[in-house]
Amino acid sequence: SMTAIALALSASAAAANTEGCDDGEIVMKFAHVTNADKHPKGIAASLFAKRVNAEMDGTACMEVFPNSTLYDDDQVLEAMLQGDVQFAAPSLSKFESFTKQFQIFDLPFMFKDIAAVDGFQNSETGTKMKDSMARRGLQGLEFWHNGLKQMSANKPLLAPGDMKGLKIRVQPSDVIVAQMEALGASPQPMAFSEVYGALQQGVVDGQENTWSNIYGQKFYEVQDGTTETNHGVLDYLVVSSTDWLDSLDPAVKDQVLTILNEVTVERNAAVNEVDQAARQSILDAGGVIRELTDEQRAQWVDAMKPVWDKFAEGIGQENIDAAQSFNK
Ligand code: LMR
Repeated sequence: SMTAIALALSASAAAANTEGCDDGEIVMKFAHVTNADKHPKGIAASLFAKRVNAEMDGTACMEVFPNSTLYDDDQVLEAMLQGDVQFAAPSLSKFESFTKQFQIFDLPFMFKDIAAVDGFQNSETGTKMKDSMARRGLQGLEFWHNGLKQMSANKPLLAPGDMKGLKIRVQPSDVIVAQMEALGASPQPMAFSEVYGALQQGVVDGQENTWSNIYGQKFYEVQDGTTETNHGVLDYLVVSSTDWLDSLDPAVKDQVLTILNEVTVERNAAVNEVDQAARQSILDAGGVIRELTDEQRAQWVDAMKPVWDKFAEGIGQENIDAAQSFNK
């Protein structure tokens, strides 16, 4: 049967991919979609594995699979529930089929900067969100930052009207789809690993992403330029399966989650540096970045913010108010 074939394939992939682990060690695979060394998520995942492998040697072994080499984000959560991967950190926009709670992060212009996002995630409301998928078998462990999103296309984008009629790659999120429709664009959900090729071949005209993703995937090479809109946040939730976590010896679980928490604190504190380094690297490589005047940016706010009305009831006005209170 197809299932048997799929299981056999994933079992052989597992065996082939865990060569670095010693017999008897608990194998922990961490799959993600970005590069490993110049990206907030990649750096954090690499540091997490390095520390687990040093401090839990003989007990546990972590292998990181970056660059979508093991799974795309549209496969990884199901694979986690099957026990084929133990850690992942999809962007908050990727959890929609499990919970609507993270929609708040996709609302355009909800957060002024990453400090506001951090404040909200660490508030009582944000902390509770990590448990919102427990019924579905997923446990949120830590929020990891990436940055604010920018808008790029195969033509200059200065006014929101410049988006009209463009095919824009989006993450699979109803909020982001509605946001692009509000701009008169045609949203095209697509896996991260396919975006460069789709931009290059003209399958889509543009996309929205953070500096580290635009740099890491070289989107600037196949776009006219990127407009610094800072219109939304792209952050991550590190997740694991509740079943797998429950299967661990409590001391092992405690040690791995303590390491994860320490890595989170350390790397989240450094995220703005990585974000700005990626922005600078785009310029150094000859990529075009367009800044907006306050007046121009206000037009983007006017065009996109009405999207809130459509989702406010589902998200809860009290949650929106709580989030807004961190925009100091
Ligand atoms: C995207 O799909 O554009 C991002 O969520 C990828 C990532 O993990 O940063």
